Amino acid sequence: MLGPNLDLTEEHKLIRDTARDFAQNEIAPIAAHFDETGEFPRETIKKMGALGLMGIEVPEAYGGAEMDTLAYVLAMIEIAKADVSHSTIMSVNNSLYCHGILKFGTEEQRKKYVTPIATGQKIGAYSLTEPMSGSDAGTMKSKAVRDGAGYVINGRKSWVTSGPVAEYFILFTMTQPELKHRGITAFIVEADQPGFIRGKKEPKLGIRASATSEIVFEDYRVPVENRLGEEGEGFKIAMTVLDAGRIGIASQALGVAEAAFEASVGYAKEREAFGQPIGQFQGIQWMLADMKTRIEAARLLIYNAALAKERSKHDGGRYTLEASMAKLYASETAMWVTEKAVQIHGGMGYSKELPLERYFRDAKITEIYEGTSEIQRLVIARNVLGMK
Ligand code: CAA
Repeated sequence: MLGPNLDLTEEHKLIRDTARDFAQNEIAPIAAHFDETGEFPRETIKKMGALGLMGIEVPEAYGGAEMDTLAYVLAMIEIAKADVSHSTIMSVNNSLYCHGILKFGTEEQRKKYVTPIATGQKIGAYSLTEPMSGSDAGTMKSKAVRDGAGYVINGRKSWVTSGPVAEYFILFTMTQPELKHRGITAFIVEADQPGFIRGKKEPKLGIRASATSEIVFEDYRVPVENRLGEEGEGFKIAMTVLDAGRIGIASQALGVAEAAFEASVGYAKEREAFGQPIGQFQGIQWMLADMKTRIEAARLLIYNAALAKERSKHDGGRYTLEASMAKLYASETAMWVTEKAVQIHGGMGYSKELPLERYFRDAKITEIYEGTSEIQRLVIARNVLGMK
């Protein structure tokens, strides 16, 4: 919990500093290479698992660090400052996959499917989107049909983060299409089973080391004990879990914005033009002032959402509004700040010699995945109008 002056506890400082040291020493030096090649950074992810970063809020009994949401936020910011791709893999593992199974799973499911992911030995994924069902997530076409002691799944999922590499997936699919979103059911599926086909890997603008692909199910059989929650509860599970995920995306957005800002301050002090450091010019000063102000406003919205999620662990309430506001504002801040950072750096901002152009490309996804900015505005508006 935060102190009266928003000061962090010793435990929070420890996780932040651990994540920062690892990010700066082990991730920052390799980030450009993995961006260039699009390779999946499996080894660094394993090391992050050993440090407790792949299951920060997961109880120790399931291999996690058993810390709170603020700890998760602080660590995410630090990892994203070094590389957004690493933080994307971390975010899906922590707040979509592990959180989803811990919240809605049985004891057997938690033991079997959370522990290897929280320790970084395996990779988890979350699969909601389909080619014709993105923002309108309740309209999916894939189906699971009950068959004896299990279900048979057919269909195509798209834009699955870690799809090319993950071992375990939380999958959302229709069991009763006539009930629309109330006919969606969640399952935990294993990749190394017949009928699970990894589709084409997406060539992306940014977060290139975070592998994304389609997943095709062809008569894939899943036992009933792998159903997550009851039949028809899938949409609510998907939405509940996305509330947590959106705090993670907001935090990674803040991380990349901070990285771009800090580089800009350094450059403004050292780069000279017209006989003085460019930071002496009001045009640059005003950019830096607005960058800093937006970053600190985003931080407060993220802390607010983290505290709301912490409260919800005790009172069971929703934190949808807080999570959406944090995600909306932080992701638009990331895009705005990284664009200004490229501008401040001029030609060097556009060059691959420096990481500014990567920050700019990576920031864009935060306005799109886990709910576009338009969807966040819809969620926020429905909340303030009392429509939800
Ligand atoms: N928590 C719990 N329940 C929720 C909820 C939430 N946050 N939001 C909605 N619900 C419930 C509602 O209460 C409602 O319940 P009833 O059936 O009992 O009435 C039900 O869900 C349907 O709600 P809506 O009528 O609001 O549903 P909608 O069809 O209008 O859609 C939406 C709402 C907010 C637009 C939603 O579809 C949405 O968030 N869309 C974006 C999806 C998204 O973020 N996709 C990203 C996928 S993950 C990804 O990016 C890639 C990756 O690999 C990580």
